[in-house]
Amino acid sequence: MSINEIRTKYLEFFKARGHTVIPSASLVPQNDPTTLFTGSGMQPLVPYLLGEPHPEGSRVTDSQKCFRAEDIDEVGDNRHTTFFEMLGNWSLGDYFKKEQLRWFFEFLTGELGIDPQKLYVTVFIGDKDTGVPRDDESVAIWKELFAEKGIEAKDVEIGSEQDGYRMGMQAGLKPDGSPAIGRIFYYDAKKNWWSRAGVPENMPAGEPGGPDSEVFYDFGTPHDPAYGPECHPNCDCGRFLEIGNSVFMQYIKQKDGSFALLPKANVDFGGGLERIAMAMSGNADIFSIDAFSEIVALLVKFSKKDYSDEAYTRSFRIIADHMRAATFMLGDGVVPSNTERGYVLRRLIRRAAQHAGKIGVQDGGREDSMLVRAALLTLEKYKQAYPELGSEDVYEKVKREIWKEEKQFAHTLESGMREFEKIAKGGYISGSDAALLFASHGFPFEMITELAREWHIDVDEEGFRAEMRKHQDISRAGSRQKFKGGLADASEKTTRLHTAHHLLLRALQEVLGPAVKQRGSNITQERLRIDFSYDKKMTPDQITEVERIVNEKIGEGLPVIRSTLPIEEAEKLGAEHEFGAKYPDVVSVYSIGPKDAREGEPKFAQAFCIEFCGGPHVSNTSELAGNFKIKKEESVASGVRRIKAVLA
Ligand code: ALA
Repeated sequence: MSINEIRTKYLEFFKARGHTVIPSASLVPQNDPTTLFTGSGMQPLVPYLLGEPHPEGSRVTDSQKCFRAEDIDEVGDNRHTTFFEMLGNWSLGDYFKKEQLRWFFEFLTGELGIDPQKLYVTVFIGDKDTGVPRDDESVAIWKELFAEKGIEAKDVEIGSEQDGYRMGMQAGLKPDGSPAIGRIFYYDAKKNWWSRAGVPENMPAGEPGGPDSEVFYDFGTPHDPAYGPECHPNCDCGRFLEIGNSVFMQYIKQKDGSFALLPKANVDFGGGLERIAMAMSGNADIFSIDAFSEIVALLVKFSKKDYSDEAYTRSFRIIADHMRAATFMLGDGVVPSNTERGYVLRRLIRRAAQHAGKIGVQDGGREDSMLVRAALLTLEKYKQAYPELGSEDVYEKVKREIWKEEKQFAHTLESGMREFEKIAKGGYISGSDAALLFASHGFPFEMITELAREWHIDVDEEGFRAEMRKHQDISRAGSRQKFKGGLADASEKTTRLHTAHHLLLRALQEVLGPAVKQRGSNITQERLRIDFSYDKKMTPDQITEVERIVNEKIGEGLPVIRSTLPIEEAEKLGAEHEFGAKYPDVVSVYSIGPKDAREGEPKFAQAFCIEFCGGPHVSNTSELAGNFKIKKEESVASGVRRIKAVLA
């Protein structure tokens, strides 16, 4: 089955069980201070998991585009990718464990026909510190589900991953003295607790999380003792692959470090589409599924090299992964640059170009280069599921940006290689050498380390990062992301700045003209940042006037009101929305003012501003309680300005 078929089957399956199919959010998170990219399906849904009503009701399902930069260095083995699709279904205070575990199991074994004998599951062992109990409830459900398939599912208490390597799959002995193998495994919070920040102790106050139950597929390959004496579901040897995770998102971390129940118990399910496809094919190489194999075939054709030739396999995989990821990023409006998202995109394309060279293809700079063709193949493959990839604009942009980037890279490569060799002859690459290669020759850091490996010399990574920090915040993009999946801490400070952000956009339109549109935003507890379309530097008078308007609206104490509307109606109202973003049929909008508007009686005609937005917001502008101040106004790209502002 192709990934397009599996995705459709999954969405149809959950639609038939009362779920509304919602579109994938952009890879570029909205109002999210913590990650550069959307890294999990739940990230865009955080406000709803925290209790805001979702405009599409309490059951939603989707396939979310995800990118995890932290895996970039792992790409090249048979299972890691940077970009992936996460199939998701959510119960927002609706169904819980019983329905969730049964449905996913039925989907795998019934709809997809996966042999239940090959499935193993894990559950949470419980935790004294948080008081969250052992998940015996899920164990009972799993036992019943396996029993229905004629499989006796023994449970095994493991604990930590380390314990797993010691204990293996054993669940005692059979009457004849042979080992009885477990089917259900209890692990600790490191393995069976999910929040965007990981284990309970790492969660900030206000962060939701909960125990989870994962399903693993057994490829039946022999255990590799290099990983530890015994194999177990969470072993990294490659025998087992996690294909889905049902998170029972029930808890919220409190300021004093304890855990309280959320107003409603939710289910956050995430399943890796590509991994499910691997399980269906029984092939442990993710690059063998159709999401990649078509690109790999193209690379084989261009390079006339064999994918199975060990000298080239890693390069094939890196190119296939990176070009697919780069195409999706370009589709969501990211362009190559030297900062943040643009830098990650630049790394992907340049690293792919570097590996194109390794498989003997030197056509960078041609308009129909191998990498351009790989990107266009990706558009073709995914445009049905992600309509944004089907537009003429995106097609042209993908072609143009990859061509440009390859050309620039080819240009700097030659002089950079000369420089590299000069430095490498010294036997060591210092932080400042690496920074020079990076800044003057456009060498991504991984490329420097890869080249250094080939020369058997060391690179001072710490020194490089320190050097980068000195210059600017470029290193942010390279450093590990703070949260696994990202998003909005819903802290009070962030929420206040989020509401101020709406006031600011409207004030900018009043002062600079209605053509001003939001092009990006990012909010932390300390400051808000907005990128907007405008092609001149703002004058000091304009800045003062914008500040005055925002402070006036704070002073007026205007109500902030959330309404849900069919998308056409919201559009008719002229509600602001992000250019190019995709929205469901029913949307949530926030309007601010007039003074006598109320929940359910929004009085849009007299509102100060209206925006498509999932929240969260304060309920009255008086809660912003502070002096709104613009700290910086600068250009970020041609025709795009950036403002950083605070509530002092
Ligand atoms: N949010 C969960 C994950 O990303 C489902 O694994």
